[in-house]
Amino acid sequence: MSFRNLWRSSNFLKWASRHLSYNSGGNEFIPFDGLVSARRCEARRSLLVEVAAMGSALDLYQVCSEFGTIRQMFHYKTKATSGPREMILIEFADSLFLEKVLKGAVYPTQNSSIIPVHSPLVWLAASKKSKPTNHTLHSGTADLPVPFTSEEKNNDVELLQNLFHCSDISQQIQTLYDYQKLTELGWRLRFFTCRQIERALSGLFPQASVLPFGSSVNTFGRRNCDLDMILELTDDDEKTDNNRLVFQAKKSRAAANPRITMQRHMEVISDVVDNFIPGCSQVRKILGARVPIIKYYQDFTGIECDLSMTNKSGFYMSEMLYIYGCMDPRVRPLVFTIRCWAKDRHVTSVFAGRWITNFSLTLLVLFYLMRTSPPVIPPLQVLINLAGSSDRRETSGIDCTFLRDLNIVTPSENQDSLETLLRGFFEFFSNFNFKERGFSIVSGNDFVKPEHKALYIQNPLERELNVSRNVTFEELDRLNTEVSNARYLLEGLEPYTGESQSEPWGILHLCNSSAHPIALKAGNISIDWKEFFTRDELSGSVPSKKKSVTVNTTV
Ligand code: CTP
Ligand code: MG
Repeated sequence: MSFRNLWRSSNFLKWASRHLSYNSGGNEFIPFDGLVSARRCEARRSLLVEVAAMGSALDLYQVCSEFGTIRQMFHYKTKATSGPREMILIEFADSLFLEKVLKGAVYPTQNSSIIPVHSPLVWLAASKKSKPTNHTLHSGTADLPVPFTSEEKNNDVELLQNLFHCSDISQQIQTLYDYQKLTELGWRLRFFTCRQIERALSGLFPQASVLPFGSSVNTFGRRNCDLDMILELTDDDEKTDNNRLVFQAKKSRAAANPRITMQRHMEVISDVVDNFIPGCSQVRKILGARVPIIKYYQDFTGIECDLSMTNKSGFYMSEMLYIYGCMDPRVRPLVFTIRCWAKDRHVTSVFAGRWITNFSLTLLVLFYLMRTSPPVIPPLQVLINLAGSSDRRETSGIDCTFLRDLNIVTPSENQDSLETLLRGFFEFFSNFNFKERGFSIVSGNDFVKPEHKALYIQNPLERELNVSRNVTFEELDRLNTEVSNARYLLEGLEPYTGESQSEPWGILHLCNSSAHPIALKAGNISIDWKEFFTRDELSGSVPSKKKSVTVNTTV
């Protein structure tokens, strides 16, 4: 029975309870709304402090705990425009404690070039009273009475060794995901970065919200992914109907054209970000784009940021992807591996252009998982049909309603391994007729393309739009070629024998340069990694050390 007929049939709910795939892998499902609001509260209680070194943690704890209870502390190093910095993120038990700290904080001493901005970003000055501490890096943290985590940068050599030692391709896919997914600190710093802008604008706009969306929250983001943010000046949910006291407000000068109004507002906000907000560097306005954005780099959190003010559909789109990621534990590792392969083969790029984006690529994976037998995940229309009144959302006339509580659905009957699904993905799309057909994750079906574009992927929320209309015929050909190459490469792999491997194997063939430290650092560089490690280093029997290598740049 096709999905379309299924939705109409009276047996639908019975079918849904059998086929809807929710298997969180033993973890309790956290609704997206709950996750976002908990993380925003955490950010409201958080202070980011620049320190001389990790050893300052105890000193910092003593200074801050005078203002209220501290819950936990995180240390990391970041590369700011002006050089490396060491930072500690402190979470207080209550946002009132943070406000007390900020009330007590002082501005840098008389320097006319300093702009005295009040923000939850401070630095710890050397104490005038106490003698220099003898704390070494670790003794400064060992005595801390609260949980303390220090996050190192990705150790790519370790990843490579782990991938080498996995027992099968499925384990490699899972390892790649576990290693590259956003960490706890990564989540916190992203919400903190949003909060910094929200707080800066709160004097004029106390209801303003800055919400993260895209790969930072849809759970398909790598550790170093950029941060997409949406700024809304008012809170949609605030009810004012019965209130007779109405704020005096200015009328926008270009009220007839909402796009021009938004561009003007963004100009002003961009200037505020550029001139006043600590740590925001390399601020650029890209206001002529279909979605106007302000781009900047947040030096203290080390995050590339894209701030927009358009409708909230991108946020709901992220919620939809989040839900699919939670439905089955295989979805995220598979998406990560396909993204990693695409990056390695230059099918995607960090720059916007005529190639497929990570977002479209994710829809490709979801569509495939709807077409396996039995399906791993259901089409979006199934989730729309199951939505209740609390699931209703709408933004700028776009209906974003779908089931948001996965607790009522049961696991998929599909038992395929990650390896089978990865092979299946490449096989499925090497046979897909992209030239004539497009597809929809709403219906889970493919159809004759309604427009003459190389690639047609229906936008799941604004259904008359094609999310991949930027892709050229030339880039589609490259995608097709790479998909077929990946398929044959996987088909030609020797089966894993269980013995210690002495050659690269499995997904190291697919994602090798992405997993390689030099390539990761340098971007578009491909390298013969065999030259880089000796076999013993790869098998882990001796500690790895870098050797000089010849690097081929294939941009
Ligand atoms: N988006 C959308 N409609 C599009 C393109 C994007 O709604 N046509 C939303 C999606 O929620 C997407 C988000 O905007 O996740 C951010 O887009 P982008 O930064 O291109 O993708 P990411 O998923 O964030 O991936 P990346 O890691 O490459 O940034
Ligand atoms: Mg993004």
